[in-house]
Amino acid sequence: MTARAAEVGCAEQDRSGGHSLLIRHEPVLLRLHAPVIQDGRSLGVLIAAPRRGLEPLDAGMSDWLCSVVLQMRRDSGEVLFGTGGALLPGLRYSQLVKAILFEEFGQLPTLRSVTDPSPAHDGVVIEVAATGLCRSDWHAWKGHDPDVRLPHVGGHELAGTVVSVGQEVRHPWMGRRVTVPFVCGCGTCMQCATGNHQVCERQRQPGFSHWGSFAQYVRIDHADANLVPLPESIASPAAASLGCRFGTAFRAVVRQGKVGAGDWVAVHGCGGTGLSAVMVAVASGARVVAVDVSSAALNFARDLGAAVTVDASTVDDVGAAVIDLTDGGAQVSLDCLGDPRTCEASVRSLARRGRHVQVGLLPAGEAAAALPMDRVVARELEIVGSHGIQAHEYPAILEMVEAGRLRPERLLRRTIGLPEIPAALTEMDIPVPGSPGLTIVDPAR
Ligand SMILES: NC(=O)c1ccc[n+]([C@@H]2O[C@H](COP(=O)([O-])OP(=O)(O)OC[C@H]3O[C@@H](n4cnc5c(N)ncnc54)[C@H](O)[C@@H]3O)[C@@H](O)[C@H]2O)c1
Ligand SMILES: [Zn+2]
Ligand SMILES: [Zn+2]
Repeated sequence: MTARAAEVGCAEQDRSGGHSLLIRHEPVLLRLHAPVIQDGRSLGVLIAAPRRGLEPLDAGMSDWLCSVVLQMRRDSGEVLFGTGGALLPGLRYSQLVKAILFEEFGQLPTLRSVTDPSPAHDGVVIEVAATGLCRSDWHAWKGHDPDVRLPHVGGHELAGTVVSVGQEVRHPWMGRRVTVPFVCGCGTCMQCATGNHQVCERQRQPGFSHWGSFAQYVRIDHADANLVPLPESIASPAAASLGCRFGTAFRAVVRQGKVGAGDWVAVHGCGGTGLSAVMVAVASGARVVAVDVSSAALNFARDLGAAVTVDASTVDDVGAAVIDLTDGGAQVSLDCLGDPRTCEASVRSLARRGRHVQVGLLPAGEAAAALPMDRVVARELEIVGSHGIQAHEYPAILEMVEAGRLRPERLLRRTIGLPEIPAALTEMDIPVPGSPGLTIVDPAR
């Protein structure tokens, strides 16, 4: 049997045609996405589903398959491939997959064929079923995040199926449909040891610290500490939002905000994160004041249960308006945009001993937002940040979703394919979306 690396490496057409070859070689599952070549003749493309083992596309391949011996040299990533124990060198587990590549900050990215990711020893590769377009992706593209190195693939809010597993992963993740908090904690540092994976000292973030999910496949590190299995009742587009904006909003409202029934909660900026926060606050029994400059966003917030709304484009002093509407101020107020003005307005919206939660990211030049510290002292206000959420918090969210108390699918606005991401990122150059809700990317479109 002969096999040439060049032929096996040239898998692009097979990928776009949706074919893949999965070969189980315990404890890893290798995916090959190429025609199998024997004696210069293509034997066709094979498909295997992860949980069912090998299923040759062409029935005539079965006998041949039985005698395939496959090994992977973990250090080099080289795959040895042959029959009857005679291994042939030269095939690499390295194929081409579609991804949106950022080559210059702020320059229109393009759909490119890039190298297939392979899992870290403690990680997995996920076939992306859905990935959200969050304003943090826009920050990464604009060069606001010092962790991002070019060329880069963004995308961090995802759901999909585990198709490849590293050798140190203990849990049987293969074939499971999962989501993952975008801050992937290491599971062992001091912060993780106290359950605070969202601020892990050695955190990995797809789409920021390494290539993300604006692609057919994404690598996720520290899998055992971070993967969240999904119940069948939650479809992948809604599940993707749990990975960032919905999950972040849950922590911001419930854990950092400590919102209680009957509290007034002000949400400044009712985009993907803010609308999620409105839904979570309403489900927590709070009364919500939604603040935005878009009447469509405010209408959406009202549909989700916000008691009152403030159009910040028509009011001089947003904080004073919230204090009037809430008879003394909000117990909790969140900046879900990330702008010095919304940050200050949020602090000024608070009742005595109220709590401001900063969720929106402020780029480096704006991060030193001026805050009314006299008011912080005189009213004994608290100012806290909120960063993602830990994987161990998801059972609480999923329980509420399954009980129908939280319905992230209500926030979905539109689904696009990978090729539409560059235009969608450009639309975010203005902070007011054309229509409210979440944009989800389906890489199979
Ligand atoms: N802390 C975290 O872990 C975390 C997680 C997710 C997102 N984020 C950040 O949260 C922010 C929001 O992300 P998103 O994807 O929800 O954004 P988005 O673009 O969907 O929403 C922004 C909203 O703010 C509104 N807005 C614009 N100007 C306003 C103003 N002056 N006053 C009030 N509202 C105004 C817009 O109309 C829009 O509805 C971003 O900074 C993002 O990077 C942080
Ligand atoms: Zn995000
Ligand atoms: Zn850690």
